Amino acid sequence: MAAIFEATCTAPVNIAVVKYWGKRDTSLILPTNSSLSVTLSQDQLHSKTSIRASADFTTDRLWLNGIEESIEKNKRLVACLRETRALRATLEAENATLPKLAGLKIHICSENNFPTAAGLASSASGYACLVYTLSKLFELPLNASDLSVVARQGSGSACRSLFGGFVAWEMGEKADGSDSRAVQIAPETHWPDLQAMICVVSDEKKGTSSTEGMQLTVKTSALLQHRIKDVVPKRMDDMIAAIHAKDFPKFAELTMQDSNQFHAVCLDTYPPIFYMNDISRAIIRIITEYNKDGVKAAYTFDAGPNAVIYAPKENMAEIFSILSHYFPGAAFDDSLNLVKENPEKVAAGLP
Ligand code: ADP
Ligand code: DP6
Ligand code: CO
Repeated sequence: MAAIFEATCTAPVNIAVVKYWGKRDTSLILPTNSSLSVTLSQDQLHSKTSIRASADFTTDRLWLNGIEESIEKNKRLVACLRETRALRATLEAENATLPKLAGLKIHICSENNFPTAAGLASSASGYACLVYTLSKLFELPLNASDLSVVARQGSGSACRSLFGGFVAWEMGEKADGSDSRAVQIAPETHWPDLQAMICVVSDEKKGTSSTEGMQLTVKTSALLQHRIKDVVPKRMDDMIAAIHAKDFPKFAELTMQDSNQFHAVCLDTYPPIFYMNDISRAIIRIITEYNKDGVKAAYTFDAGPNAVIYAPKENMAEIFSILSHYFPGAAFDDSLNLVKENPEKVAAGLP
């Protein structure tokens, strides 16, 4: 039996407060606007990926949540493998003592401990984890920002999960995508008072994937053009300033406005896309009422009906009890503490 080389890592999800929605290049995954997100703690939601390489393997194979999926049909996965293998091949060419891994077939086994394809950013943690684990297996000397360029080619939002804390994805200008990468705006230790709560409204797979949805929006929505030209550039600056100043009311207002505009853009898509449902809209009304004498919480919804609530720690118990009162049956994953990992470990966590 030939030697087996193996790496296992975990990676966190990130939830955008200035949303990415739209590609200017669909194969390299280059966005139509910059975006900004908060990386959540891995203690609650994460992907875990093990990758093995061996001369005994005859094909590349992938199991996602225990079910085998085709790799060849998945262009993005193929791109991440191609990029990381090419980097490994360069290392092997420079150093003859390294084991020859670039040419070996691999087996990938990945699991999400939360609903997949339900609007809780599984593609973000999933591809960040894939690329990070490949970089460990191949011992690639790349920093998080360089890895983000590879992860971006798996799923756009994945580039932001390579960092903890507050992370911008700068859209970049170059046609080759080398300047379309993630940068950390502030580390996870910056704002310990800020917490996130996930409200699982539905764990079903969404009807329209993010990839399909955003391309239809690019093709048909005039509102998207207004958003990317007139709204997002200033909103990115304002959001970064609010985060640096730890100004929760401003952070919350911008977060809610951006979620609202993203869902308006989905409605402006033709035919329209509805990601929120009646429970999502009820959560918006409840938080709006809760905020009537001063902004104490922010809601945001990705491409799905599930809510993420950002709030200062001291308000979380109250918000949890209000939401549980209205939706006693709903599963709420309480109080994700953002300050759990040290920066080096954010995408790592080798067991
Ligand atoms: P989400 O809102 O969960 O990010 P998307 O429509 O953006 O939903 O992406 C879901 C897709 O991401 C899945 O169908 C799968 O192809 C991919 N994905 C999710 N989790 C993983 C993972 N752990 N490893 C590899 N790919 C994953
Ligand atoms: C609404 O990153 O899932 O969550 O690049 O096609 O894989 P692909 O799309 P994806 O889109 C995420 C959209 C969003 C907003 C965000 O995370 O910024
Ligand atoms: Co996604």
